[in-house]
Amino acid sequence: MRRRQFLSLLAAAPSAVLISQCRGTSRRNGWQRAKSQNGLLELTLQAKQRSVSLGNQSARVLSYNGQVPGPVLDVKAGDRVAVTLDNQLDTPTNLHYHGLHISPDIDNVFHEVAAGEQYRYEFDIPSNHPTTTGWYHPHYHLMTAQQVFGGLAGPLIIRGELDEIPEIQQASEALLLIQDFALNDQNEPLQPHPLAERWGREGNLLLGNGQQNPIIELPQNGLLRLRLINASASRIYQLQLLEHPWHLIATDRGAIAEPVELDNLILSPGERVELLIPGDREPGDYVIKSFPYERGTGEMMAAFGQSVLQMPGITAPNEQVIATLRYERRARTEPLTLPKKLLSVEPLPSAQHQRQFILNHGIDYEAGSTGFTINEKSFMMGRVNTRVSLGDTEDWTIINKASLAHPFHLHTNRFQVLSRNGKPEPYLVWKDTVALAAYETVVIRVRFEDFPGKTVYHCHVLDHEDRGMMGILEIV
Ligand code: C2O
Ligand code: CU
Ligand code: CU
Repeated sequence: MRRRQFLSLLAAAPSAVLISQCRGTSRRNGWQRAKSQNGLLELTLQAKQRSVSLGNQSARVLSYNGQVPGPVLDVKAGDRVAVTLDNQLDTPTNLHYHGLHISPDIDNVFHEVAAGEQYRYEFDIPSNHPTTTGWYHPHYHLMTAQQVFGGLAGPLIIRGELDEIPEIQQASEALLLIQDFALNDQNEPLQPHPLAERWGREGNLLLGNGQQNPIIELPQNGLLRLRLINASASRIYQLQLLEHPWHLIATDRGAIAEPVELDNLILSPGERVELLIPGDREPGDYVIKSFPYERGTGEMMAAFGQSVLQMPGITAPNEQVIATLRYERRARTEPLTLPKKLLSVEPLPSAQHQRQFILNHGIDYEAGSTGFTINEKSFMMGRVNTRVSLGDTEDWTIINKASLAHPFHLHTNRFQVLSRNGKPEPYLVWKDTVALAAYETVVIRVRFEDFPGKTVYHCHVLDHEDRGMMGILEIV
């Protein structure tokens, strides 16, 4: 049960500080940043397998515009976005805007962009959209894991109210998008062993912004605002900033009420956080380290013995440095302090309906399932699993009856986490993905706002999603 402590996103305890720098991150080759201008962001994202520099080598992986991760999309609430997806892969794909509250008719994961075709996504970001660190990635059923693990992912920043807070305006800013890769002898993404597809494929090569241990500058006496995105297909990170404090200021879908100092940060696939790191320690280098997280495969690995580590897509647990925060020595004379208050998180009204979602491993013959279920059903194209009314608030009890961790993700609307294993959460957060370790139960509250249509919820271990751990939600 110690695991549980880790699991909660924010096991509060004093410890380390973090990284960041202003507008951009140290990347040798320049990371394309597409920023909206006069309320419009227009660009083409070409998905293609290409040779890119990845860590300390060159690899033929899946890229957007020849970059891994893909370009940073940087927009404001109220902006119009027009993204043309140019599919130069040899398989169908599409785009999902993870973290955006827009119509599911546009952010439509059922849409197919065939190989060789283009498709234009055009939408307005609501003017009251919460300040969010999101990301975009393919969501084409049965290929999501393969395409994301191949490298397809990029950051999506929505600026808004949180950016108006003076201390945040003065902070320098950095992004850290974390991916893991497993390459074959040709330096291409390898085909995982069927067992790895079942557990969720992982790779040994852990990269931040496509680099091995990137340096992020932390202004001495200043503040660094660091956005972390877990864009891995399956890997759950347990992160610490060693010997330095870091403070949580926002979760998946927006700010929290006030900064909270973190120790251990558990980040499941799909989850994001924003942190503030004060440059008030002894100047030097401080590392963000990834520690093994037990997501339920440990016992099975032990049962298999060493041989399991020969299977492509299965890795031994180990520790690795993800990034280094380096003090920038241009010291400010006036130290910047953390803001006392961020944005209040209004509790959602009490719910009109309660529902249960049971995550488990099993068979749904009708769906021709490969073994992962929600309420005993596997995903079936066109089959609505849950129908709700626009404007309603509902409490969803999500019960993980399985021996593996299953991070639960809902599209379109954000939610608040009410309790975990019967214990109320210490403070309110806005989320769209919530971690569930083996046998955990979480209660979330969600209001279906603004957009009717068909959307989805699923496990964000993408192999599980592809193997059926997904349901269709119709908002009417
Ligand atoms: Cu980031 Cu449906 O996913
Ligand atoms: Cu999503
Ligand atoms: Cu899962």
